[in-house]
Amino acid sequence: MGLPEHLKHTLDHLRQSGLYRFLKTVEGEQGPEIRYQGKTYLNFSSNNYLGLANHPLLKEASIEAVRKFGTGSGASRLITGSMTLHEALEKALADFKGCEASLLFNSGYHANIGVIPSLMGEGDLIFSDELNHASLIDGCRLSKAKTLVYRHNDTEHLEHMLKNNCHKRLIVTDTVFSMDGDLCSLPRIMELADQYDVLVLVDEAHATGVFGKKGRGVVEHFGIPSHHPRLIQMGTLGKALGSFGAYVCGSNELIDFLINRSRSFIYTTALPPAVVAASKAAIDLIFKDQSLKEKLWKNVTYFGAPSPIVPVIIGSAQETMDVAQKLFEKGIWAQPIRPPTVPEGTSRIRLTLMATHTKEHLDRCVHVLEMVL
Ligand SMILES: Cc1ncc(COP(=O)(O)O)c(C=O)c1O
Repeated sequence: MGLPEHLKHTLDHLRQSGLYRFLKTVEGEQGPEIRYQGKTYLNFSSNNYLGLANHPLLKEASIEAVRKFGTGSGASRLITGSMTLHEALEKALADFKGCEASLLFNSGYHANIGVIPSLMGEGDLIFSDELNHASLIDGCRLSKAKTLVYRHNDTEHLEHMLKNNCHKRLIVTDTVFSMDGDLCSLPRIMELADQYDVLVLVDEAHATGVFGKKGRGVVEHFGIPSHHPRLIQMGTLGKALGSFGAYVCGSNELIDFLINRSRSFIYTTALPPAVVAASKAAIDLIFKDQSLKEKLWKNVTYFGAPSPIVPVIIGSAQETMDVAQKLFEKGIWAQPIRPPTVPEGTSRIRLTLMATHTKEHLDRCVHVLEMVL
């Protein structure tokens, strides 16, 4: 089917304003060097922070799971899809995060669009950081609750908004902001949550495996008790954990509630064995061995950044595309990020650092950036 004229115009408009998106298919593994159309590029665009996406232990765990359990789960968790592997991973995740229980979702996007609408509905109030990830924003929209957006990390603005009373209230925030790499002011947010009796949903997508002494995330980094009664934690398994999927952690009661009310959990086929086994292997590995996290932080410190996400703000979408193209021509794969992912006028190159980058990789990246900017 061809596109109707008005949709073709939409694409033309995106092309003319530097906002057009297209796929670039890489060949081979997601390492610090990636292959594209026969050439090698230094990869500064992956969330494979610890290099686990191609770790031999995860690969072996996946292969073994396929041999024992097959390739598909065959049904949703509530039908026949709930396998011993899912249960083992959920137990490992709950232990890892220091919570009573956890529940797997098929992705971080699924988790956020499932959890928020199950907790909140019409007539309720959500407080959302203006730079929250799209999946949190979509979760808020789907819930039909009224969403008040507070200025980025501005807890005074949040407090001002919290004076709006309502029966059910929820604060939602990334803990590491996905396009900026800064941390939310979680200790203050939790104080406000206690003071105003509000629930808090934190998205630890970019913090799991990266922040905290044991890699449990920003909640651990700030020493917030995991079993805090107002705290709901979600995180993803497809970034630092090198696999795919997501989890929500909290009390047994919360997990029971989500199993019963979360549509993106109920109405979808369960994660397949290979993926679940790889996630479990990743959790077991990072629980025992902090060395990959230490290598990652050595690189982050060398770069002088507060997290492995390093934004280089350019401004206009077109200029950002031009810079990305120049970097690409010099062998650096660094993703241009444009609206609507980031606010108008703040288009940027988003660099991500990994444990598997060598000092030479980092130096080369800085050198090329200096040439291009
Ligand atoms: C903060 C944040 N939350 C959620 C997600 C969605 O996770 P997933 O890729 O597993 O759908 C992402 C990125 O993809 C993210 O950056």
